[in-house]
Amino acid sequence: MNTMILATKNAGKLREVREIFPELTILSMTEIGLDPEIIEDGTTFAENALIKARAVHAALGENPEGYAVIADDSGIEIDYMDKAPGVYSSRYLGEDTPYTYKNQVILDNLKDAGPGQRTCRYVAAIAVVLADGQELVTEEACEGEIAYSPAGEGGFGYDPIFYVPMYGKNMAELTPDEKNRISHRGKALRRMRACLQAGKSW
Ligand code: IMP
Repeated sequence: MNTMILATKNAGKLREVREIFPELTILSMTEIGLDPEIIEDGTTFAENALIKARAVHAALGENPEGYAVIADDSGIEIDYMDKAPGVYSSRYLGEDTPYTYKNQVILDNLKDAGPGQRTCRYVAAIAVVLADGQELVTEEACEGEIAYSPAGEGGFGYDPIFYVPMYGKNMAELTPDEKNRISHRGKALRRMRACLQAGKSW
């Protein structure tokens, strides 16, 4: 079993999961013709990741290929905004609102926040549902700060305003390898790889 279905329509996530799991064939649910209604009404990243993975696992039905399903639920917690938008990160200010606008609103919200008040983190929960229904979840965070201005063209979403102290750059200025090495998603996916290998389920 070296094919997993990724329960997402987010092209940025799909690209990063493929980069971090080069040993697997990762197909998006769209690529295999699935588009189940997924109601993300969990209150934690882990709950929402499981909701997505279970929904796509159910939509696979008989699943003769024995596909496992993998889902990522992630977001940004900004301490100055009481940890918002958190699990609502993709819906913040509207699902289809451009990130140039969302990022500018966050910069404006933090205009009076000085050094030490700009801390934030990305969080990612990864859920896997194996063909036999067995479920695994991992979660990791990546600490950073809200920058004073956007920079960089890489990554996606909030990356232009997410300052990474270790690199002295914003996330969108990092190469894919640099981002994946330290990102919430990179760490949670590598932990998932270790869980899957330990369980010898595949
Ligand atoms: P989800 O699809 O409900 O898990 O929403 C995830 C949202 O969190 C994304 O649409 C982005 O807004 C944000 N997000 C998660 N991970 C990242 C990242 O690595 N870079 C930038 N934004 C991210």
